[in-house]
Amino acid sequence: MSPAYRGFVGHFFLALSLFLLLLPGYAYEILSDDSLNSLPRASEDYDIHTGSLLSPILRTRVPGTEGHEAVLEHFANFFRTTLPKWNIELQNSTSTTPISKGKEVPFVNFIASRDPPGAPVGDVGRLTLVAHYDSKLTPTGFIGAIDSAAPCAIIMHAMRTIDAALDAKWTAMRTEGLDPSLEDEHGIQILFLDGEEAFDHWTDTDSLYGARSLAASWSSEFYPAMSTYKTPLSSIELFTTHWAYQSLAAAEERLRSLGRMKSASDQHWFPDSKKNSHDVIPLGGISDDHLPFLARGVEILHLIDFTPFKGFPPVWHTIEDDGEHLDMATVEDWGLVITAFAAEWMELEGYLDFEQQTKSQTESQSKSRRDEELEFEAEAIRLNKKTEL
Ligand SMILES: *[C@@H]1O[C@H](CO)[C@@H](O)[C@H](O)[C@H]1NC(C)=O
Ligand SMILES: [Zn+2]
Repeated sequence: MSPAYRGFVGHFFLALSLFLLLLPGYAYEILSDDSLNSLPRASEDYDIHTGSLLSPILRTRVPGTEGHEAVLEHFANFFRTTLPKWNIELQNSTSTTPISKGKEVPFVNFIASRDPPGAPVGDVGRLTLVAHYDSKLTPTGFIGAIDSAAPCAIIMHAMRTIDAALDAKWTAMRTEGLDPSLEDEHGIQILFLDGEEAFDHWTDTDSLYGARSLAASWSSEFYPAMSTYKTPLSSIELFTTHWAYQSLAAAEERLRSLGRMKSASDQHWFPDSKKNSHDVIPLGGISDDHLPFLARGVEILHLIDFTPFKGFPPVWHTIEDDGEHLDMATVEDWGLVITAFAAEWMELEGYLDFEQQTKSQTESQSKSRRDEELEFEAEAIRLNKKTEL
């Protein structure tokens, strides 16, 4: 029997654009109790052996390997079949690593986004949810379930849960004669970043390969717009991120009081939520994918389990960070909290209708599951052939 860790950690952060927070008339809209009660848990789809969201990520996925390619294909397949209205992009780069003997290793960031219909691409501020999907090279066979397969699956679940409500909202706005592109320039975006882990040991150049490349690429693309919002970083950032943090804490609190949470409730996840933003001591010292974005003035809320609270679980960066060591109640609960936060941020109260949604999703998911089964069979056949050789 393996003791399941009753906590949760992952390289997992939410990047919040400062631009969003400063939009005139912008209002974060709290979900009603009814809506919170109706949010689906992803129980089956987080099954570590058969779940359509999580199980395909629970394998080694070191950049440049076959497992890595398969996981990338899983993401693409998920968006193609379950969220076909999302725009998918891959941002590629290569780099040598301390162990690649001068060879360039490919890194592929997976980007999926959805904007209000008709909105010019440069005018949309996007709530951005980020996790890395690569796995660490060592120890051999390392799965990285908390780091960060589970956060990827949590984000996928949250996006699929709110997708139909985005449609409903934008359609309703058009019917009422409001141009969604004028009234509502909030889009939403997820980044599954590559090459977060070090190949040898963590240094500024042996880590965050994908994040560094994407931040550099996006800053040169959007430089004039970004420069408008360059403000004294530390003060404003703490003010606004603390606000987002408190919104997440409130969602957690309400979901707990509605009896929707299954994880142990002795310790809440957001210990600083009652504090005034001035009294929060910013915790530095965690190197993760947010850093290259933070350095360029992006507003970041980095969610990570950190001492003096629970700290990283003992399985972190060991062979035991696998599916069997996930505390599924906690993973599912995070799915709910992130879904609620995203729905509130996108102001979806009144548009969440899950009766309707379950039908169409079941159809597309069983299709995508069939596709995956076929792929697995094909792969099994190929592997068999290889061992016979
Ligand atoms: C980026 O890499 C992926 C995976 O290797 C490849 O399929 C894709 O064509 C590449 N995209 C570009 C723009 O080079
Ligand atoms: Zn890690």
